[in-house]
Amino acid sequence: MKIAFICSEAVPFAKTGGLADVAGSLPKALEKYGCEVKLFIPKYYSIDESRFGLHYNWEIGEIPIKINNHTRFAHVYQAILPGSTVEVNFIDCPHYFHRDQIYTDGFDEDERFILFCRGVIETLQRLKWAPDVIHCNDWQTGLIPLYLKENYAWDNLFKSTSTIFTIHNIGYQGRFSKNTINNAAISPRLFYPESPIEYHGDFSFMKTAIMYSDIINTVSNTYAKEILTPEFGCGMETVLQLRKKDLYGIINGVDYSEWDPVNDKFLPHHYSLDDLSGKTKNKQFLLTNFGLKFDDAVPAIGIVSRMVSQKGFDLFEEASEELMKLNAQWIILGSGEDRYEEMFRNLQQSYPDKVALYIGFNNELSHLVEAGTDMFLMPSLYEPCGLNQIYSLKYGTVPVVRKIGGLADTVHDWFECKQNSSETGTGFTFFNYNSGALLETVKKAIAAYADRTTWKTIQSNGMKENFSWKASAAKYLELYNDASKKKTIK
Ligand code: ADP
Ligand code: GLC
Repeated sequence: MKIAFICSEAVPFAKTGGLADVAGSLPKALEKYGCEVKLFIPKYYSIDESRFGLHYNWEIGEIPIKINNHTRFAHVYQAILPGSTVEVNFIDCPHYFHRDQIYTDGFDEDERFILFCRGVIETLQRLKWAPDVIHCNDWQTGLIPLYLKENYAWDNLFKSTSTIFTIHNIGYQGRFSKNTINNAAISPRLFYPESPIEYHGDFSFMKTAIMYSDIINTVSNTYAKEILTPEFGCGMETVLQLRKKDLYGIINGVDYSEWDPVNDKFLPHHYSLDDLSGKTKNKQFLLTNFGLKFDDAVPAIGIVSRMVSQKGFDLFEEASEELMKLNAQWIILGSGEDRYEEMFRNLQQSYPDKVALYIGFNNELSHLVEAGTDMFLMPSLYEPCGLNQIYSLKYGTVPVVRKIGGLADTVHDWFECKQNSSETGTGFTFFNYNSGALLETVKKAIAAYADRTTWKTIQSNGMKENFSWKASAAKYLELYNDASKKKTIK
């Protein structure tokens, strides 16, 4: 089966969050099932051409794309996704992609991803490569299903190509003014009140993708149900209700060749379930380097996150004074909105012997925090899947999470399991989005940490879990087959 996998970021080339982890690992897993996969991402300024061996494709040459009355020119560079034979196609257009950040709030954010979507289709045409499925991810890729059914419907190359749209985060929808349809060369006849592309008078990439894709899925079963409700749907629940029978949930897998304490290339000390002494050494290394006192009787709690409201930091702020009274140390890595960065900065200044803080993006440190802390906190407001709690399980770092979305599907609460007379819990969870519930749960986790036998059981339950892509990639294959069948029936 031939799959074109389209995404706005992918490890190891460009990353802001878990989307990149998925785009860098699912294609590899699909390849193991015999699929031929080509990955497409924009060629951002930050991508290191020589490190990844990018080559300019002369045969494709210049691709003219008209956007907002200007003709822009795209070019295609290619490389191989490390650890696979997946061909990566980088859509180059310096005017749009040579910026400081992957995502901007600039006036032409719509144009950037219009160019990307059209660039992908135009490249497929020049490669004369007809995918069975085009797998689109998040709003930045959301025009492709519409383009195939409208603007490029004339091209027989795509006559057997079906589309899948994966929602990684419904909070980001690509909503722009009506003028975007002109920029995107979408026929004005498609835009009218409540049409498949119209959203409260605006144009929505996300709605368009949901309405035009053959199949839609999201990254956990619980989130697939949640986004059908007003609490989690961010306004898209009514749109999703229309496509409910084509909506699926598939939990993300993770790449254990990158995320396993047995051979993680970023760790000073490797360790495994049989011998956790390396974990303690990593903790000592981490705390000492941050200037914190090492005392293994005191649990270290890690946070690695985009600092945005999705991640539950309002709750954390509300509870912060009480949290700081607890006998624990905090290692926090992240960047994002000023208000959260400032909140953490203030905490660090008020509690310098308890809080270590790194504001920024640091991949090496993210691995070290996973390995060198005892617990990992994710009190998310919503969480489509979440990867850090899955990494934490493998690193013997017990997750403390809100029981929603992918967090609910991957972490089993120790006490809930105990109530059912089973010692199979892997973490600690709370459901209600309030600071009291968060505080109580952290307290319970800290109390459990003091009982070393219980703690070892919880750690080892987590370390034995397996979220490799094998099972989830097989489910994607089923979806691809379903999508292809739907296309044949039409
Ligand atoms: P989301 O995609 O919503 O940000 P996930 O839990 O799915 O959340 O994935 C986050 C990914 O980004 C993880 O791989 C995590 O380690 C990484 N990450 C987040 N913030 C940082 C940071 N400041 N530095 C390094 N890695 C980070
Ligand atoms: C999004 C979600 C996160 C998910 C990731 C990869 O960024 O916020 O929960 O794990 O995408 O699917």
